[in-house]
Amino acid sequence: SQAGTPIVVKPDAGAPIINKHIYGHFAEHLGRCIYGGFYVGDSSTIPNTAGVRNDIVNALKELEIPNLRWPGGCFADTYHWKDGIGPKEERPTIVNQWWGGVTEDNSFGTHDFLNLCELLNTEPYLAGNVGSGTVQELADWVQYVNFSGTSPMSDLRKENGREEPWKVKYWGVGNEAWGCGGHMRAEYYADVYRKYATFMSGANIEGGLYKVASGASSNDYHWTEVIMKNVPHHLLQGVALHHYSVIDWNNKGPAVDFQEEHYFKIMQKAWEMEELVSKHVAIMDKYDPEKKVDLIVDEWGGWYDVEEGTNPGFLYQQNTMRDAMLAGVTLNIFNNHADRVKMANLAQAVNVLQAVILTDEEKMLLTPTYHVMKMYKVHHDAQLLPVTFDSPEYSLKGESLPAISVSASRGKNGQVHISLVNIDAAKTNAVEIDLNSLGIKELTATALTSEKLQDHNTFDDPEKIKPAPFKNFKMSKKGVIKIELPPFSVVMLEEVK
Ligand code: AHR
Repeated sequence: SQAGTPIVVKPDAGAPIINKHIYGHFAEHLGRCIYGGFYVGDSSTIPNTAGVRNDIVNALKELEIPNLRWPGGCFADTYHWKDGIGPKEERPTIVNQWWGGVTEDNSFGTHDFLNLCELLNTEPYLAGNVGSGTVQELADWVQYVNFSGTSPMSDLRKENGREEPWKVKYWGVGNEAWGCGGHMRAEYYADVYRKYATFMSGANIEGGLYKVASGASSNDYHWTEVIMKNVPHHLLQGVALHHYSVIDWNNKGPAVDFQEEHYFKIMQKAWEMEELVSKHVAIMDKYDPEKKVDLIVDEWGGWYDVEEGTNPGFLYQQNTMRDAMLAGVTLNIFNNHADRVKMANLAQAVNVLQAVILTDEEKMLLTPTYHVMKMYKVHHDAQLLPVTFDSPEYSLKGESLPAISVSASRGKNGQVHISLVNIDAAKTNAVEIDLNSLGIKELTATALTSEKLQDHNTFDDPEKIKPAPFKNFKMSKKGVIKIELPPFSVVMLEEVK
């Protein structure tokens, strides 16, 4: 546990604000995310508001989630929004062709979702159906949720009990158009995008609609290049990117009983986000040097084999300290690229993939990933403090990764926060942080760690992993602190004001 070069945190008046939307979430009609997760129906004995679980609402309010993406994912390009409005008993059913082939009754629809967003005080981010829907259908959806005057769609909304429009700003124009969204080539999708985006009216929305093009999968740089080149930028506010930390799509490995080798590979995938963001941004810089178009990582997270005995199409997995590491590293990468990364969505909020919340009937638990999100809340809309340092290495079987990930920010009230992650599976890493240019007198710290990497919260022991005060640091010389980061830990340093 040797100290590497000190971490230097220096203010820079030109540094970007870390957009709170980087801390966004995602709720798809997939497995038990919506049905049996968020939504239990208003006749359930589980306490709910209009059918949505109160415990989930309260937990997400605590996180101050800035946005929630819905209804997919792959599901979005099969979804016909008009099936999900009006009297519930009259709604047609839909077969969820991507996720388990289950039939759903459309009981959770546009009103349910947008009212939920109001309850959560979060911005909705709707994914429009481009794959199997029409231009008219998407244009109608925009009018239905946003138009305040008289029109066929706003009248229909009012008939369905909602007088005022919700004013939805964020819209995805299709999802994974290269795959489940239609297996399109980038060149073809760019033209399709131009057409759909043209008819989505931004009237009534301050600053107009914020439209996001379906983006590349991980290192498909050609995709980003074509979108940036072929789509006029006045039609394009964001370009998406999806990157999952997955070992091998045919053999993803267990969510809990993994070996260190598995862990290392997932950390490689997590760190890969740094390279992916840098390279996609470099392409965007070529076509948009003024950085008017944003990079939106609207799906990210760890993807493992489903929990034994659960429906393989439901993507239910437990969440361990490994996921806390993945979240900490990824969020630090986004923070450090805040000049171009303006929004991101963890996949997914409840009971699916790297969830922040898991439920079992009336029980609910908060995962280690939830706690990381909560610790990092302090970075929402704070100004980035650029950080420079050389990390010590975490090595396994001849391969190595940076052991330490860090980002820092100064909040609106002037308070400095530094988030540090030590991904080393065994070693405490002692690092020095040079805070001389910040004039900090005193700090406190909180840490998330546990005895074993595989540790996780269960319905019987839901608080096994939670943040705790952390004392293992001291001012060693003037303005420099020395901190001992335990193996696989996330530590948040907070300036005492
Ligand atoms: O998040 C699960 C799925 O992963 C989404 O539906 C899809 O967009 C991606 O492939």
